[in-house]
Amino acid sequence: MSDHTLDLAVILGSVRDGRFGSVAAKWFADKAHQHGQFKVNLIDLAETPLPLELGSQPPEMAPLTEKLATADAFVVVTPEYNHSFPASIKSLVDWHFVEWRAKPIGFVSYGGIAGGSRAVEQLRLVFAEMHAVTVRDSVSFANYWELFDADGRLVEPEGPNGAAKILLDQLAWWGAALHDARLANPYTVND
Ligand SMILES: Cc1cc2nc3c(=O)[nH]c(=O)nc-3n(C[C@H](O)[C@H](O)[C@H](O)COP(=O)(O)O)c2cc1C
Repeated sequence: MSDHTLDLAVILGSVRDGRFGSVAAKWFADKAHQHGQFKVNLIDLAETPLPLELGSQPPEMAPLTEKLATADAFVVVTPEYNHSFPASIKSLVDWHFVEWRAKPIGFVSYGGIAGGSRAVEQLRLVFAEMHAVTVRDSVSFANYWELFDADGRLVEPEGPNGAAKILLDQLAWWGAALHDARLANPYTVND
């Protein structure tokens, strides 16, 4: 496989005021920088309007779309809202299609007792429809308010750091393999 530096888009999915998502996304983006195989791009969905009414793409969405298009891999940072993922993430998915295709996607989730895992399992179904490949391992913060201090630092970082490394290793493998495959043979199935 080529040694191309992979472009990793870390998507901060929660858009509400006072969100915890920014803590989780910044923590993971730092881990991805430190991993060494990625150029990391943090995408904050709160910065771009994602209208519910689908149609012609608003011009202000173009920079976001370009970031998705150039990404070799994605990590979606998601909370769990009513046993699913937030509408902001569904809207992002629905406004795009080819940008997800033949690329790997990983997850960082958080919430109460389930750690956001119900949101992640539902996102796997959605991304299958996009011809994306979700990787097996994820990072999950159950009862996250017990795990981070007031400065947004993990009280006991070893476990989450290890989980992040496993996720990033899987994204690096799939990211490189699919990058090379897309170059050699553009993915046009079902075009
Ligand atoms: C509309 C709504 C629904 C929620 N439903 C769940 C849930 O089903 N499971 C859960 O673990 N937490 C749930 N929570 C609590 C969230 O895990 C918690 O508010 C978390 O901080 C949300 O992420 P955010 O701060 O990044 O938006 C819910 C929160 C909201 C606002």
